[in-house]
Amino acid sequence: MTVGIDAMEIHAGKLRLDLAETFAPAMDEDPGKYTKGLGLHASSFPDVHEDIVTMGANAAHRLMERKGLEPDDIGRIDVATESAFDNSKPVSTYIAGCLEAVYEGDFHHANKGERKFACISGTQSLDDAYNWIRADRNRGRAALVIATDTALYARGDAGEATQGAGAVAMLISEDPDLVALSQEQGFGSADETDFLKPNQQFPSVDGKRSVQVYLARMREALEDYESVAGRVYSEEFRYVPFHTPFPGMVRKAALLGYRHMTRGTAIEDDLEPAIGRQPLPDEFDDESGYRDAVREYMDALKETEQYGEWYDQAIEPTLDIARHVGNWYTGSVHVARLSALRRAREDGIDATGERLLVGSYGSGAQAEIHTETVQEEWETELDALDIDDQLDDRRDISFEEYEEIHDAHNHAKDDEFDALTTPSGEFVRDGQGPMNERTYRYVE
Ligand code: CAA
Repeated sequence: MTVGIDAMEIHAGKLRLDLAETFAPAMDEDPGKYTKGLGLHASSFPDVHEDIVTMGANAAHRLMERKGLEPDDIGRIDVATESAFDNSKPVSTYIAGCLEAVYEGDFHHANKGERKFACISGTQSLDDAYNWIRADRNRGRAALVIATDTALYARGDAGEATQGAGAVAMLISEDPDLVALSQEQGFGSADETDFLKPNQQFPSVDGKRSVQVYLARMREALEDYESVAGRVYSEEFRYVPFHTPFPGMVRKAALLGYRHMTRGTAIEDDLEPAIGRQPLPDEFDDESGYRDAVREYMDALKETEQYGEWYDQAIEPTLDIARHVGNWYTGSVHVARLSALRRAREDGIDATGERLLVGSYGSGAQAEIHTETVQEEWETELDALDIDDQLDDRRDISFEEYEEIHDAHNHAKDDEFDALTTPSGEFVRDGQGPMNERTYRYVE
């Protein structure tokens, strides 16, 4: 049985903060820190009337319309988020409520839930849908998986530059049109305090450590994947989409991954005259000597033509969208997949049958590796997307507007601000009900 992602849609927050032009001067930083160091040009932000529900519902609505689906075609709605505003009622019920306002049928038959494990919960929701279909419990229905986040940091936090807001909706079905998911998967999971939100809206982040934890868990996940699927080699995968909190993070992960995948291969032989062979732990008397040698090897590897070519082909295309929207937390790795396929389409590449090595990560911390195979109808799916229009149509905000928008989404503040965009053909948040629930409506 082939199970995977049949279709995807995104909804980008409707505001755009330019990091080089607007954020850097206000922070008194060199724009290169953001554009070159972190690899980010802009962040997408939610307008006043947008939140995780409206963004998720808007992405899901577009997906259902495009695929000609009715509520009866969907057997489960799983929402992944780390920006939830309710500790009991799942975001999926709010999103289903929005969708029921524009469809004749309802989702009373659909199993709904909310997944939490930081950014990796989007991929965990994919797993849940995959397992549900493989177990033949779906009664011919597809699953709707929605990853939606307002990835905001406290003002002044180092993570502020990596913020973003958006949603990814994915339809999971048998015989998918976009990508098939591998049965094999690998995990790297440990109790970590790199990034967390203990009953607080904005995260507590140990930024530098979070980078190391990401790399350590990703490496474990790759080794665990290999323990079930056999060794992986760089040339087997057309694209390698990683969770992308910022492209600079992926730059670090990619180099480690390449070293791992080329160890003991003809590529390592080719590189040997220029940079030597990969250091191995048992060649050293102590850990620090080994680590220094690895660092030296990696610095040299990064500059080689072989690595540069692989990076440009397998990694760079996965970052096209992230550079202009920032971190979408649970949606981030799924944006990376879409970004790669969008580049394949732009470059006229026949990607049918090509494989993707997908690396997801969630702080706290867990990484997961699986592979995907691009399906025959992928071009039709890509051609139906309006990603460029969405990104181009965002309204640029000044730094003063950014400060207000940040406050507007800060749960601890109740200042009222006017929206900066005029909604049309979308769900909006329109207030608070008597039980403190958020309320929504569809604007024609
Ligand atoms: N020109 C070019 N490059 C420059 C530069 C300039 N003018 N100024 C700085 N840089 C480079 C730095 O050398 C650095 O590059 P390297 O990492 O390759 O050395 C890069 O720009 C960033 O600079 P800093 O390290 O000084 O930046 P910072 O300390 O202010 O912030 C961060 C970095 C700690 C990662 C911060 O962005 C952060 O806390 N982010 C949130 C946490 C995060 O995203 N962690 C990632 C792993 S956790 C995860 O993935 C889950 C998740 O989604 C949150």
